Amino acid sequence: MRISASLAIAAFAFASLTASSQEPLAPRAQLAAPQVLPPMGWNSWNYFAGRVDDKGIRAAADQLVSTGMKDAGYTYVNIDDTWEGERDANGVLHANAKFPDMKALADYVHSKGLKIGIYSSPGPKTCGGYEGSLGHEEQDAKMYAEWGIDYLKYDLCSFIGDVMEKQAPNDHAAQMRLMIDAFAKMDKALKATGRPIVYSLCQYGWDSVWEWGPSVGANLWRTTGDITPDWDRMYVILSQQEGLEKYAGPGHWNDPDMLEVGNGKLGYGENRTHFSMWAMLAAPLLAGNDLPNMKPEIKAILTNRDVIAIDQDPLGKQAARVYSDGEVDVWARQLSGGALAIAVVNAGSDRYSTHPFHLNLRKLGLAEMQTGKDLWTGKMMDLKDNMALELVSHNILLLRIDAPRLLAASSEPQPAVAR
Ligand code: GAL
Repeated sequence: MRISASLAIAAFAFASLTASSQEPLAPRAQLAAPQVLPPMGWNSWNYFAGRVDDKGIRAAADQLVSTGMKDAGYTYVNIDDTWEGERDANGVLHANAKFPDMKALADYVHSKGLKIGIYSSPGPKTCGGYEGSLGHEEQDAKMYAEWGIDYLKYDLCSFIGDVMEKQAPNDHAAQMRLMIDAFAKMDKALKATGRPIVYSLCQYGWDSVWEWGPSVGANLWRTTGDITPDWDRMYVILSQQEGLEKYAGPGHWNDPDMLEVGNGKLGYGENRTHFSMWAMLAAPLLAGNDLPNMKPEIKAILTNRDVIAIDQDPLGKQAARVYSDGEVDVWARQLSGGALAIAVVNAGSDRYSTHPFHLNLRKLGLAEMQTGKDLWTGKMMDLKDNMALELVSHNILLLRIDAPRLLAASSEPQPAVAR
């Protein structure tokens, strides 16, 4: 089915690739943009969840430096849920016993040349049942700024049941308005601090957040429910990003959730595919693995400079899926300087099989001979139209073509991907 639809998909993808990324958006810009390119860093949730503490955050900062990840671009060390303690009589929220001194912790992270992030909810409670920011938005934002926080992930959680459903029962539109207002309120509070703080929305993609995220100052917004460290979930999330490419651009990004590279059941090729595709999507690259026990091959994936350069390309154009043939998907991303990135993903379910696949350059709008760099072997590769590719299941061929030769005018759809 996907094969027969491929031309239509290609035409759509070409249109998306060439469309302006500046659609209906008014990015958060009154402050100097705190983060123009997709943020890179590490977040505590995906591996440590509730086990995060001051020592673990300091260790993560140390590891980002000693592993070379900082040099590769990883900057933010983000504390996710479970740091929160109680509010005192003045409404001031204190961190719990796991975090004895947030200001000292932020100073430590900054002393390593890194930045620090924190987590809260517009509801009374976070998703983990800890204290949220409802009714204390300005107070909390001010406190984050005083601590030296550089990044806030703001997660809807209990705002759904405790505010939206209570205040506007059975009225979806009114519930969505309440939600948007709540995100706008924290944006205002963050801006009022005068400190540039990256604002990350987490509400699982409800109500097409990509359409209104920038209007509430979001620098990134989650597009889906939670990721888990297995191929099936990663691939579902990847597929859900199709069509969202026109909403991403400098300073405001789709967030398909944090990286699971190195976690759970993901095998080597799966980790490479996951990382490559998040780079193709211009997604935030927030590693979520056990840094002190990172295997060398995982470090090699997370620090592949060529792949990171795709993610961080200044043009800021998210990839589109151009066509699928059987269980193989072909994505393309326009890069600055007229370059082009192509990803061929074998999503076939037998992870030990190879998939005979023929790359159709015409569908990519490319002439029949090209030269590109395989970003995982580092070798240059000649590409011919219809060439056979041996691609192991759940693996990827990621190519960068610096000087693509476009198809001459013909009956095929014209991508202009590299113009
Ligand atoms: C979820 C969120 C996760 C994590 C968790 C913490 O809602 O999607 O990324 O932040 O809450 O409780």
